[in-house]
Amino acid sequence: MARIAWILGGGTGLGAETAKGLIARGWTVAVSGRRTAPLEALKASHGAHPYPFDVTDRDAVGVTVAKIVADLGRIDLMIYSVARKQTARAGDYGYESYASIIDTNLLGAARVIDPVVDQMRRQGGGEIALVASVADYFGLPRAAAYSSGKAAMIALAQTMRTELAQDNIAVRVISPGFVKTDFTAKNDFPMPFLMDADEAGKRIVAGLLDSKRFEIAFPRRFVLILKTIGLLPYPVFFWVMGKLAGVAGK
Ligand SMILES: NC(=O)c1ccc[n+]([C@@H]2O[C@H](COP(=O)([O-])OP(=O)(O)OC[C@H]3O[C@@H](n4cnc5c(N)ncnc54)[C@H](OP(=O)(O)O)[C@@H]3O)[C@@H](O)[C@H]2O)c1
Repeated sequence: MARIAWILGGGTGLGAETAKGLIARGWTVAVSGRRTAPLEALKASHGAHPYPFDVTDRDAVGVTVAKIVADLGRIDLMIYSVARKQTARAGDYGYESYASIIDTNLLGAARVIDPVVDQMRRQGGGEIALVASVADYFGLPRAAAYSSGKAAMIALAQTMRTELAQDNIAVRVISPGFVKTDFTAKNDFPMPFLMDADEAGKRIVAGLLDSKRFEIAFPRRFVLILKTIGLLPYPVFFWVMGKLAGVAGK
């Protein structure tokens, strides 16, 4: 029997490439996002099942979970690949823009996790994968809301992994480096180790289906560099960040 995945943010970028990879491995895949057109395109090209809705609308989340379970029977794997990009100037901490990024990138996940965990408990287990970023390792310049939302997301995943093991629900975190998607298309700074979206999708699918590890992070060399930066003593760390802010601020 085909296993059922639900990918939020599944119409484009990493979510869409992951959907294609899972479908190629025999999964039935529901995809969500606000825009109907990319979801319908994935239905036409790969047979995905579209469920358009907005993760900031809590009522719509509950309705959508119920609809997917009614149509497809269960949710074996939920992947949260939703995010809005932040294009802040260094030193810009405007509340409205901070709150709106967190509302989608972090609270959106919380709105979905609640009914999905209930459903997975009812069906006897499942898997939840939250797409964070290598930006979750520390606070990056010009990305206060994005970085702090991703850092909170990894902490959330760690808590859930510990607490939900007893319910047979495996929680994982996916931390990509720079990937060519709409998200990065207009970035005005150097993007080391930039990767094609289809390659990133393959790494995600392999990490999810062929391993049980908590963190699926790539590309490996970039991850190692960033993790090392995160371990530096603070004076050295902030010197490096200052250099980065210089580049990113131009
Ligand atoms: N690309 C990179 O270099 C990179 C690196 C590290 C991490 N990531 C993470 O990877 C994930 C996917 O990003 P991507 O690069 O694939 O970019 P993307 O193609 O822009 O994907 C973001 C998805 O989120 C959906 N979305 C945004 N707001 C939504 C809302 N309110 N309700 C429902 N869906 C919403 C978008 O669909 P609609 O606009 O139709 O709603 C879109 O499909 C994100 O979590 C991002 O932070 C990306």
